Amino acid sequence: MNTNETHICRPSVDDLATIYEIHKRAFPGFFLTALGPVFLKGYYRAMLLKKDTIFLVERADEIIGFACGLEDAASFNFKYMKKNIKQLAFSVCLAVTQRPSILFRVFTRPQDARKQPHRLGMIHLLSIAVDPKASGHGTGSRLLEAFKTEALKRSFSEVYLTTDANGNEKANAFYLKNGFRKINSHSSGNGRLMNEYICSLNHLK
Ligand SMILES: CC(C)(COP(=O)(O)OP(=O)(O)OC[C@H]1O[C@@H](n2cnc3c(N)ncnc32)[C@H](O)[C@@H]1OP(=O)(O)O)[C@@H](O)C(=O)NCCC(=O)NCCS
Repeated sequence: MNTNETHICRPSVDDLATIYEIHKRAFPGFFLTALGPVFLKGYYRAMLLKKDTIFLVERADEIIGFACGLEDAASFNFKYMKKNIKQLAFSVCLAVTQRPSILFRVFTRPQDARKQPHRLGMIHLLSIAVDPKASGHGTGSRLLEAFKTEALKRSFSEVYLTTDANGNEKANAFYLKNGFRKINSHSSGNGRLMNEYICSLNHLK
């Protein structure tokens, strides 16, 4: 995969299929991935159509990575799940046949969201993923930088995110290397330890 000539931009609705494929490959076994293509594409579509989200992709010949986030992520997730409750129920039923523990996750996710801080000037980076075939060539770092620059343009002063604490050394090292600092850890509803990171944007002003 050629990663020499790339550019970062906002994707279009036509790019959602590729974004879904990258999510699936980058997050195997995760809750949202387990809900399948219809639910996940709908989720990213809703995020893309919401004007105040920051949604960026890096393109070479094709899209190789994406990053997206918004101010009140917990509220967005809750509203999306509520509005699409029938599709969610259908996707969960399908997923449960392959992994029964998914059902437990449906009930514990809202509790996780309540543990996340929400304050003025803070934007939540909800998802960042690079196609595993293109990983390790700076795409993730460039997407993070572009996300921070766009957040600053929109008058945010800090970027917040959570990521798994255990078995996730690469992502944790990646955030530390890119100017984030760990502010807290909490146990998610399904017993996973989550690290919380903040990156102040003040130095970019
Ligand atoms: C975490 C993730 C987004 C990082 O993306 P990435 O494009 O691989 O990240 P970068 O290339 O910017 O940096 C990662 C590594 O590549 C190295 N690198 C950066 N530019 C490079 C280049 N031009 N050539 C070779 N290596 C390079 C970095 O030094 C870093 O190595 P290190 O971790 O050993 O120090 C990606 O691995 C991913 O999608 N993971 C799965 C999903 C995930 O975990 N998402 C985040 C958690 S929510």
